[in-house]
Amino acid sequence: SGNYTVTLIPGDGIGPEISESVKQVFKAAEVPIQWEEVDVTPVLREGKTVIPDAALHSVNKNKVALKGPLATPIGKGHVSLNLTLRRTFNLFANVRPCKSVSGYKTAYDNVNTVLIRENTEGEYSGIEHEVVDGVVQSIKLITQEASERCARYAFDYARQSGRGRVTAVHKANIMKLSDGLFLNACQEVAKEYPDVKFNDVLLDRACLRIVQDPANYADTVMVMPNLYGDILSDMCAGLIGGLGLTPSGNIGRGASIFESVHGTAPDIAGKDMANPTALLLSSIMMLRHMGLEDKAVRIEKAILGTIAEGKVLTGDLGGRASCSGFTQEIIRKLQ
Ligand code: IPM
Ligand code: MN
Repeated sequence: SGNYTVTLIPGDGIGPEISESVKQVFKAAEVPIQWEEVDVTPVLREGKTVIPDAALHSVNKNKVALKGPLATPIGKGHVSLNLTLRRTFNLFANVRPCKSVSGYKTAYDNVNTVLIRENTEGEYSGIEHEVVDGVVQSIKLITQEASERCARYAFDYARQSGRGRVTAVHKANIMKLSDGLFLNACQEVAKEYPDVKFNDVLLDRACLRIVQDPANYADTVMVMPNLYGDILSDMCAGLIGGLGLTPSGNIGRGASIFESVHGTAPDIAGKDMANPTALLLSSIMMLRHMGLEDKAVRIEKAILGTIAEGKVLTGDLGGRASCSGFTQEIIRKLQ
C-alpha cells in the first residue's frame, strides 16, 4: 500500500524473479508505492504489434512504470515489444548512466558517464524497402522536433545532476544532413543553457577516447541519435562489467518506463540465479524521477554496499548466492 501507484511489467524469463527482488526491497524500505502488475503480451491488430488495452491504460494512468526484460514473440508482423512500448508512449529520451561499481573489478574503476539517447527515430524508424532486387534502403529519420526535445532533456539533466557539461556525439562529417540537424539542434539548445558547457565529438573518436581513459567523459552528459546510443551504451556497460549492472530510463512527457537493458536469460530463468542489480538500479532511477530521493539514497547504498563487500554475490558477479539470497542481504543492509 502507499500513496503512489506504479505499473509493474515483470517481463519474461528471469523478469519475474528480479521483479520480486525489487518488490521485496521496496517493501523492506517502506517505499510508499503500490504495484499494479500488467501483462504486455502483445496482440496483433490490423497486422501491427500492439500492447493490450489494460497495460496501455495502466501506464497512461500511473505515468510511471518499471519493466523487466521482454522477449519479442517470433512470427510475422511482430516488431520488438521493447520498441513498441517506447513508441506507444512516445518515450523520447533514453537515459543510461554508467558508473564503475566498487567491488566488481574491471580494467577501469573511473567510469562515470551518462548517455542520453534519442529514443523515437533515427534508424529505428523502421522505414525500409527494397528498391529493386538486391538493392535495399533503410531510412534514417531525424527531425528537428525530436532532436530538440532530446537535447533539451540532456541539458536539463546536466543542470539538475550538476554534471555541468553536455557532449553531442555524432557523425555530421558523413551524415551531413541528418546528424547535421541533430548537432545543430544541440548547438541551438545550448544557447538556452549558458550555465552548462557544451561540446561535440565524432562517434568514432568518442569510442576511442572513452576506452583509452573513461575520465575523458566523466564530467559530461553524452547526447546522441538513437542507434549510436544503442551501441555506445552497451560499450560503456562493458567497461563496468556488463548489462547486469546498468540501469536505464525511458522518459516521455506523459509516462516514463524504467527498465533493465539485459535480456531474458532463458537458460537460468526460474532457477533463482539471476542478478537483479540492473532492475534494482533502474528502480532507484525511478524513485529519483518520482522525487523519492531519500528512499533512493538508502536503497542504493544497500545495493552498492552489498556488492562492494563482496560476500553475498550472484554467480555473474563471481559469487555463489541466489537471486533471493542476494536480495536478502540487501534487505539486511537496509535495517
Ligand atoms: C536496448 C535494446 C533494444 C534496442 C532492443 C531490445 C530492441 O538493445 O534497449 O538497448 O535496440 O534499443
Ligand atoms: Mn541495446
